[in-house]
Amino acid sequence: DTRRKFIAGNWKMNCSRSEAIQLASAVVASSEEKESAQILICVPNIHLADIGKLAVNSHVLLGAQDAYWQDSGAFTGEISISMLADYQVKYLLVGHSERREMFANTDEIVAKKFAGALKHGIKPILCIGESLAQREQGVTFDVLKEQCQAVIDEVGIEAFADACIAYEPIWAIGTGRTATPEQAQEVHHSLRVWLAEKNAQIAKNLQILYGGSMNAANASELLAQPDIDGGLIGGASLKAEDFLKIYSVAG
Ligand code: G3H
Repeated sequence: DTRRKFIAGNWKMNCSRSEAIQLASAVVASSEEKESAQILICVPNIHLADIGKLAVNSHVLLGAQDAYWQDSGAFTGEISISMLADYQVKYLLVGHSERREMFANTDEIVAKKFAGALKHGIKPILCIGESLAQREQGVTFDVLKEQCQAVIDEVGIEAFADACIAYEPIWAIGTGRTATPEQAQEVHHSLRVWLAEKNAQIAKNLQILYGGSMNAANASELLAQPDIDGGLIGGASLKAEDFLKIYSVAG
């Protein structure tokens, strides 16, 4: 297939200013541009200006972890997607399970953020995933379809030409308990088949990333699966060496 591998780091709420500069500098300096793979770091918003400056002419893409969907107004404490666009931000995570669970991001809000990102030329990475209870109840795929459908209803399937999906089983996030390559592949494949019923070309080209305790030791096996096009990496993206190792085994 023609899909490039996509290695995306999600730093979450980590790194002081100097740590952030050091980590981003190491990622920029010690990785090379590749035809077969892309590399992205999603950093805390307050570090975007510093890191934008040091990544601007490099192959390392800059992303944000969340933003509000309205362009401006009385939304104390929020940052708009249009503001992100001024800082070399190319990708935006939307609907990360931590935003859904702890900050009440509903499917409807996630869909608005997805649409907002596209409006400002930023590619959304739609994060979806089931809880452990949902997996045990056998409703994993229903949950994922519902999460995707809410966005498709808002923007249409064609909009996924400029987006990615990250499948992150909640039980695998930060737990050290990764989905097996077979478990992840099964979900990615079913998702792609379901999307192909709506638009075959979009489904074929869509990068579907896996997230949840991906690390330097398990990445190559996960990335070898035919429908796993990359990783959304939390903990292991905070160590330049581990993150770069994952990028090096990707494509
Ligand atoms: O966005 C990243 C995911 O939540 C995975 O985090 O690699 O620390 O499990 P993790």
